[in-house]
Amino acid sequence: MTKEASKQKIETLSQKLRTHNYNYYVLSNPTISDYDFDMMLEELQQLEEQFPEFAFDDSPTKRVGGTVTKNFTTVKHKYRMLSLSNSYSIEDMVDFETRIKKLVENELEYICELKYDGVAIGITYKNGKLIQAVTRGDGMQGDDVTENVKTIRSIPLQLKGNDYPDEFEIRGEIFFPKDVFNSLNKDREEAGEDLYANARNTASGTLKMQDSGIVAKRKLDCYLYFVLGENLPFKTHYESIEKAGEWGFKIPTEKFKSIKKCKTIDEVFEFINYWDTERNNLNFEIDGIVIKVNNYARQEEIGFTAKSPKWAIAYKFKAEKVATKLLEITYQVGRTGAITPVANLKPVLLAGTTVKRASLHNADQIEKLDIRVNDTVFFFKGGEIIPKIVGVEATQRDIFSEPTVYIAECPECQTELVRKEGDAKHYCPNEWGCAPQIKGKMQHFISRKAMNIDGLGEETIDLLYEQGLATTIADLYALNFEQLFELESFKEKKSQNIIDGLIASKQIPFERVLYGIGIRFVGETVAKKLAKQFKSIDAIMKASFEALIAADEIGDKIAESIINFFAVESNLQLIDKLKGQGLQLTLSEEQLANATTKLEGLTFVVSGVFSKFSRDELKASIEQNGGKVSSSISKKTSYIVAGENMGPSKLAKAEKLEVKIINEDQYLELL
Ligand code: IVH
Repeated sequence: MTKEASKQKIETLSQKLRTHNYNYYVLSNPTISDYDFDMMLEELQQLEEQFPEFAFDDSPTKRVGGTVTKNFTTVKHKYRMLSLSNSYSIEDMVDFETRIKKLVENELEYICELKYDGVAIGITYKNGKLIQAVTRGDGMQGDDVTENVKTIRSIPLQLKGNDYPDEFEIRGEIFFPKDVFNSLNKDREEAGEDLYANARNTASGTLKMQDSGIVAKRKLDCYLYFVLGENLPFKTHYESIEKAGEWGFKIPTEKFKSIKKCKTIDEVFEFINYWDTERNNLNFEIDGIVIKVNNYARQEEIGFTAKSPKWAIAYKFKAEKVATKLLEITYQVGRTGAITPVANLKPVLLAGTTVKRASLHNADQIEKLDIRVNDTVFFFKGGEIIPKIVGVEATQRDIFSEPTVYIAECPECQTELVRKEGDAKHYCPNEWGCAPQIKGKMQHFISRKAMNIDGLGEETIDLLYEQGLATTIADLYALNFEQLFELESFKEKKSQNIIDGLIASKQIPFERVLYGIGIRFVGETVAKKLAKQFKSIDAIMKASFEALIAADEIGDKIAESIINFFAVESNLQLIDKLKGQGLQLTLSEEQLANATTKLEGLTFVVSGVFSKFSRDELKASIEQNGGKVSSSISKKTSYIVAGENMGPSKLAKAEKLEVKIINEDQYLELL
């Protein structure tokens, strides 16, 4: 791959992974399988290793997980919430063992456990009392959901015995038992409500409910699998789990074969094979097996990567393959006009979920697999994914069957579809006149990373559009209380919340407004770069193609998209209206005043947890003062600003390259 092509690929992969991360961690609504996600991440990791200069500072490879959701207080994790690397075969497991055997001399013992498919939680106990429970969030900080967690009966509020440490954290997985989930759905069916599609997502949604009374009724459950603390009175993980059992936690037991000590990978595989079939008889979902090195001293010798322990690995079960009939192909239009063909299937029950729809991706995929209506199609389904059709049973094909003819017109607005060379997808070019695209733009504008408008959600946007109250983002700011109050099911509080949210959003800084406007290819990072370098929307509008590509990290594709956006008269009018409505379309005086060039020419790598800044604040401060932030350490790195828990691999690399390491106070002195 050429350098330019690799840069592009890094850009598209990062963008895609960010979206999938968001779907998975924030929306709890993943659209691809874990396996596909891992493969994509691995590809990006390899490219970034080859071309570190193109890696984004906030690349998905550097993150533990998604983002922190609002409404609950955000709490910094005392110990980062790491994830596990995945394996899918015996070869992967043998590689795992080979890797760690290089790092330790003593004999190893493994603990095999079930990999619960739920929501991770970290619970802190002080003097035997539950004091706080925090979700994973982005791994560094999560939501304080203590009140909700306290309603889970299998989690002790007060520990048994008296030999527990004064303070420690215990981590586990909260989930819906299958029977509880099914009966919850039965109740919903009787009440004429939509059914919940998936237990894990519903558990995650339940944990973030505002009313812990409702949470209590939902009967969530929790298995614990990891004890953390200073000077813990154990030598092994196994001991810690056994003790946790004595203190009153729900833990796996040898009696039920849900935990096992193993000396060899063959023994590990016996456990894996047993549970690969036996899992169907459990009353909760598992999606694999977790293998951990038992001895703490060995764990310490083996260490961690930036996002997971090297002494543990998850083995993921292969997804089941199922067949069903394809009843109809329908087409969805996304925010950008991209068309996604959807397979409407004869419903099949799979691992407790009814599957009615599957993704067909694009015209090429349909043609390649020769997928036709009435065919028997195959797909894999694991936990929460939208299944993806992987094949067709051609022998069962109806003799009158005809190849699928892909649509030529937009199903929403009947505009002729276009497909650019090299693009797998068809697009509806009617950007400003096609309902899902118009609604999609408004939905993007109000989304969390853009304007994050309190009270306004996707459904309200749909309603406002259907009622003719808003067809552009500027229309939102023209809404008044009465217009909202008149809408069905809009009470006084709800209407006022929206109006207040809109007013408050006028203070949202320029870079987020710029991102929210939705210029194609202007994602969060690009919007920040543009805002910083051009300082106002007027300057961006006036900038020539050459001026745009001269800016840091703005390439041809982005520049072209910006020029095209501002060539459309209605977009200029939109910006004018937003200005009139008082949105931030320039950097604030404070942002301008704080900007210095003190760090010009210096490149920083930020690692660890800080007490005076959040990581994002520290990065923003570096950039505001003219410095560059990079994610990987190289000879070009001027300083590493290291906080607590700096990754050991980063430390080793810094020492090798003799890069200067400073703490946050020394950074402030630099300024
Ligand atoms: S141990 C540092 N054990 O799977 C090691 N995790 O994909 C921390 N999970 O983040 C994790 N069952 O949320 C561990 N028996 C188990 C688990 C388990 C489920 C979850 C956990 C973890 C994720 C990794």
